[in-house]
Parts: sequence; C-alpha cells; structure tokens
Amino acid sequence: MTVISSTIEGRIAIVTADNPPVNALSQAVREGLVREVQAMAADDAVDAIVIACAGRTFFAGADITEFGKPPMNPSLPDVVETIEATEKPVVAALHGTALGGGLEVALSCHYRVALKSAKVGLPEVMLGILPGAGGTQRFPRIAGVENALDAIVSGRHISVVEAHKWGAVDQLVEDADQLLPAAIKLATEKVSEGPRRTGDISIDSGKYDPAFFNAFRASVAKKTRGYFAPEQCIKAVEAAVNMPLAEGLKAERRLFMECMGNPQSAALRHMFFAERQVSRIPGITKETPRRDIKKVGIIGAGTMGGGIAMNFANAGIEVMMLELQQDALDRGLKVVRGNYERSVKSGRLTMGQVDELMARFTGTLSYDALSDCDLIIEAVFEKMEIKKQVFAELDRVAKKGAILASNTSYLDIDEIAASTSRPEDVIGLHFFSPANVMRLLEIVRAEKTADDVLATAVDLAKKIKKVGVVAGVCHGFIGNRMLSKYGWVSAISVISGNKPEEVDAALFDFGMPMGPLTMADMAGLDIGYMNRQSIGRDNYDTRAFDWQDKLVEAGRKGLKVGAGIYDYDEGSRAPKPSAFTENIIDEESKRLGITRTPKAAGDIVERAILALVNEGAKILAEGKAYRASDIDVVYANGYGFPPFRGGPMHYADSLGLDAVVKKLHGFIKEDSNWGTVAPLIEKLAAEGKTFADFDRENAA
Ligand code: 3HC
Ligand code: NAI
Repeated sequence: MTVISSTIEGRIAIVTADNPPVNALSQAVREGLVREVQAMAADDAVDAIVIACAGRTFFAGADITEFGKPPMNPSLPDVVETIEATEKPVVAALHGTALGGGLEVALSCHYRVALKSAKVGLPEVMLGILPGAGGTQRFPRIAGVENALDAIVSGRHISVVEAHKWGAVDQLVEDADQLLPAAIKLATEKVSEGPRRTGDISIDSGKYDPAFFNAFRASVAKKTRGYFAPEQCIKAVEAAVNMPLAEGLKAERRLFMECMGNPQSAALRHMFFAERQVSRIPGITKETPRRDIKKVGIIGAGTMGGGIAMNFANAGIEVMMLELQQDALDRGLKVVRGNYERSVKSGRLTMGQVDELMARFTGTLSYDALSDCDLIIEAVFEKMEIKKQVFAELDRVAKKGAILASNTSYLDIDEIAASTSRPEDVIGLHFFSPANVMRLLEIVRAEKTADDVLATAVDLAKKIKKVGVVAGVCHGFIGNRMLSKYGWVSAISVISGNKPEEVDAALFDFGMPMGPLTMADMAGLDIGYMNRQSIGRDNYDTRAFDWQDKLVEAGRKGLKVGAGIYDYDEGSRAPKPSAFTENIIDEESKRLGITRTPKAAGDIVERAILALVNEGAKILAEGKAYRASDIDVVYANGYGFPPFRGGPMHYADSLGLDAVVKKLHGFIKEDSNWGTVAPLIEKLAAEGKTFADFDRENAA
C-alpha cells in the first residue's frame, strides 16, 4: 500500500498521506513524505506543494509503536528539515487533530490552512517526552513564547481558531470540502512570494529572562510534581529563546533523548496503550448489538447520584432523578446546579448553558416515572436489603430491554441481579467520587449480564468521557478490593512505628495525590468502622485498625467533623498532626505489646504498593480483570496512582517480578496477616516473565 502519493492540479502538487487510523508518522510515511516532497520540489511542472491527509485526521503524531525500538531512517527531524528547506512554497491542509509530530510537520510547512473544527497540539509531555522534531523551537517562534510554553507543558489540544489568533494558522475554512481548494489557492498565491520559514522567525529574547521561566515553573509546579518531562520542555523552550535555530534544535534533541531514556516515558506510553486496550472485551465485537440509551433514570440524589446524573446531562442525555422525599430530591438537584454554577465562575460554562443542562433534569418521587428510561442506575444506601427492594421495584416498572445498573462499591451484583426476573439486564456501573469529575468507571460484568448490555455500557463510558474498565463480581471489584490491602498496610505501618504523617509523606512523595491516612479522613473514618462492625472482629486484623476505631469512638470521624486521624483548623482541609491521635496510637501499641520501630519512607512505600500488586495479581488470576494493564488504568484513573509510574502492575514489572516475590515473602515472614504471595506472581517470576508478557499471551 502506498501511504504517500502525489497528484498535480494545475501547477500545484498535492502530497497526500493515507495511513489509517490516525496517519501516524510511521517509517513508511516519513520515507514517502521525503520522497514525494523532494520529487515535487524538483519537478518543473510544479510551482508549490500542498501536504494533506486522507481519512479522519491530519498526522496525529509520531508512530508511538516505534518508540523504544531501534530508530529507522529517515527520522522525523529529517522529514521536517526537508520540508522547511524546500525552495517552493509548501502549504499544510489541516483537519482532525494535528498533534505532536503532526503539528511539527505542519510548522515546517511554510503556510497552514485549517478546517475550523480542527485541533492542534503538542501532547508529547503526556508520553513523558517533548516535541522532538523542532516543535519546541518552531512553535514559540510562530505562536509566541507564552502560548507555546503553556501548550507544550500542558500538552493540551488547542482549537485552530485559537492557534489562528496566535498566528500559527494562516487561514480557516468552514467546510471539509473547502479545505483542499483553499490550500491550493493559497499555494498558488504564494508562488511569487516563495517560502516563509517558521525557523527564520526571531524571538525577542530580552523579554524572556530567567525570571520569566522561573515564574512559569512555579505556576505549574503543583500539576507537574514528580514528572520528568515538563522541566525538559521548559528547558527546550528556553533554548529556543536564547539560541539560534540550529543550536536550539541540538538542545531539543539532547533533552528529547534524555526523556526517552527515562523510565517515565515507557510508563506513560504503557498508560496510553492500556487506556485503549480496556474496551477490548472477550465475547464483545463490533457486531455485538447495542441498546439505544436516550433517557437515564438515577435512583438516589445523594453524593453519587447527582454527579452520575451530570455525566449524562453533559452528554446531552435526559435524566430522571428519583428520591424518597421531596426535600432530598430538592437538595440533590440544588447540589447539581451549584456544581454547574461553579463552572460559570471559572469561565467554563455560561449561565445560559447551565439552564440548558438543568433542563435535561427531571425529579420524581415515583418509580412509575422511570418506565420510559433506557438505563436506570441505582445509587442508594450501601445495604443489600435496600438494593434488593429497589431492584424489585425496577423489575416492576422498567420497560422491557431497559438496562438496570447498580453503583454499589462492594456488594454482590449477582445477588442483586437474582432479585429481578431479568438478571441478563443487570450490570454494575461503579462510578468514583466526585462522579462528575473522576474519569474511571468500573463496569461490573455479572454472571448473567447479556453481551449487548455490556457492549452498551462500554460504549456509553466513552460517550460520557469516562474510561470504562470491565471487572468481575468480587468484594470491592478491582479498585476497592486492592484498596483494602493498601489501607491495611498503612494502618499497620502506623501501629508498628510510624506516625500517620510519615506514612502519608512517603506515599505522597512516591507521587500519590495524598497519603492513605489523609484519604481515610476525607472519606470518613466511620465508613471503615461500620464495615468492621458488620463483618465482626474475627474476620479482620484488629491490631491494624483498633487505633482508628478508638478515634471514631471519640467522635473523630474525619474531615467532615474537623477531626479524625488529623486535626483540622476551622474551615480548613489541611491535615495537621494530632497529639490526641498520637496518644491513642501510643496507648494501643502498648496494649498490643508492640515495640514501635519506625520504617524508612522507601520501606513504607514498598509495602503499600506491593500489597496492591499482590492483590492485583490474585484478581487477574481469578479473571476478575482481563489484563494487568486494566488494573493499571483503574489505579491511575480512580485512585490517583501516578501515571508516570505506569500503574501498580507496570511498576512491579519495572522492579522485576523476581524481586517482588522475594520482598513479599519477606513481608509475610514479618507478619502472617500479609497472607500468601499470589501464585501468578510466583509463576511469572519463575518463568522470567512480566505482567506485560501475561497480557500479551492472553490477548484475544
Ligand atoms: N501512534 C501509533 N498509534 C496511534 C497513535 C500514534 N501517535 N495515535 C493513535 N494511535 C492508535 C491508537 O492506539 C488506536 O489504536 P487501536 O484502535 O488499535 O486501539 C487508534 O490509533 C485510534 O486511536 P484512539 O482510539 O485514541 O482514537 P480517537 O479518535 O479517540 O483519538 C487521537 C485520536 C486524538 C489522535 C488520539 O489517538 C491521540 O491522542 N493520539 C496520540 C497523539 C499523540 O500523542 N501524538 C504525539 C506523538 S509523540 C510525537 O509526535 C513525538 C514527536 O514530537 C517526535
Ligand atoms: P448518599 O447517602 O450520599 O446518598 C444516597 C441517597 O439515596 C440518599 O439521598 C437517600 O435519600 C437515597 N435513597 C436511599 N434509599 C432510597 C430508595 N429506596 N429509593 C430512592 N432513594 C433512596 O450515598 P452515596 O455516597 O451517594 O452512595 C450511594 C451508593 O454509591 C452506595 O451504594 C455507595 O456504596 C456507592 N458509592 C459511593 C461512593 C462515595 O464515595 N460516596 C463511591 C462509589 C460508589
């Protein structure tokens, strides 16, 4: 297949790429571009060149599947240089998303015409690298240093309308069929003027002194904590400001290669492909029928129900909210409106849009009002008897073919499904709090869930901009089941010697958004307390949790009451070490006969993360997750596991599973409550394999 071909219209050559699905700049594309551009530049019948792409998008970037493999010529910088050096004008015709290397190719063209709906961006930072084909040198020259710095360090997609205002796009067209004619017209007009090279634009370096860059560093410090690439990006833009193009390009190359050599780039690439793998599900194909979802019912307008509903309203889907009492319903809808109104304050929505969104909500106290819903999600109290009552009602009122879903965090979906006459229509849709913000959705495939119900849920996740990961039925599904081990390790770390703030600092420094004990305070210590009461003292490690129970019994239920493991100043969410808690911990450890021996931060982290990994491996072996990489997606998107570490399973791979097995045996020797080493880890380690190998071997 020829991925790059040329035609000549009048005296303008049109070089077209056709490399589905996203015209990634693979070796064949790069080679073809150089070949055709050089051929057209040398052709006397041609006065100017247009570069365009077939299919859904302009080049979406370098071919990420080639990363980590031996380089193949020509390199992308070679391609870009060939285009920029061409003596005849070259015009890029942009549609879809011109990203990364795609934008770099466009910047090396002498002029750019774009379809108004197109987006551009330099998202390399999200893959742990930087634009390595001149993007850090050319974008600041044409778009302005401030704009380019923000774009390169955030990696955000930018509308071409904005890029046009910055001067990075010359002309916008409304309709797709105008794009090529407009590019040809511009190319024709520019024949007499000749090429205008982005690399020739000079930057007024006096304006951008070290203080400017340091202020920028400070402004992004919180967001970029722990990441390697953002600082490299900043240094590359500094080079653009302070050096001539050729030297700047050399600096960019060096910084790029340093990123490539850093393990974060492999981890972030793993996350990129892992997120795209999640929708590949055994038994589900493109041909599996889907159910039409036009109207969604939500039962319970509490913490979760309102947020869940917002996702659907945002996607243009009508929502019917059901509550037990009018005041609860009013309260729930008020919270939703309040959330939207906050977006008005931050400039993301207008009041008109809020009214439009709120018009998609209807409230009811009657189950009969749900009879025309295509999907009904229950988000009532976490009690099996209540869930069963709700599902019995749904069985009575829901129309035939409606999908019945539960947002339960832990309960058995098979048991819930069995309380209806249509278990094939029942599924778990486990959203994470705040449900309108968190990207993760665990889709729980119950024993009898029909394939079309599952396929519909997977598609719907995309529609509401979530990353939907399929899990099997087990206590806490993937994420919360693993979390319980992490919570146990953090509790035991405290009673055996470390202060809560030491445990939290260790995991925060590892890259978690907050430590586990701060998180416990935020969620409410009473939740764990009630759970332990219900399962009984014989069924959990009481040594680990009695100190937390004492806090709850003293009224310290967490952040919501201003006191938990930590103290909180009135109106503040910042945890402060508590003398009261320290005293309780001391008393408890004495009572238990524990000689408190603090561990180093690294040892705390090792235990906490390997507890996740060990449980993850058990989940995988039981088939409750389809892939180790799915578990990584769950942890990065639902629990803030640092993406630059690639999720717990990828992290374990990077440590080496042999080393992981040895560590786990050591922990078990120390404390039998660790249980057993997951046989799957033992097996993979013995075979010299990784979780990534497991995924490859089990790929459908
Ligand atoms: N290389 C290789 N494959 C890619 C790719 C790339 N740059 N971009 C997307 N793909 C693949 C995906 O893996 C997916 O494959 P699959 O169907 O087998 O799972 C397929 O293309 C479709 O991708 P999406 O499902 O993501 O499609 P969407 O329509 O949702 O999104 C997109 C399209 C916005 C282009 C999105 O794919 C995307 O963001 N891609 C990555 C863009 C990027 O990061 N570019 C920079 C690359 S690094 C670079 O250019 C370095 C240079 O500076 C030297
Ligand atoms: P909540 O207590 O904030 O809200 C529950 C709402 O359901 C209340 O408004 C209540 O009036 C209503 N309700 C109770 N019984 C009802 C019934 N029979 N019919 C109609 N409405 C009824 O609880 P929250 O936190 O929203 O949790 C709901 C569900 O979501 C639970 O299953 C929970 O495990 C799950 N969940 C909670 C998360 C969280 O962080 N809060 C995260 C993920 C899941």
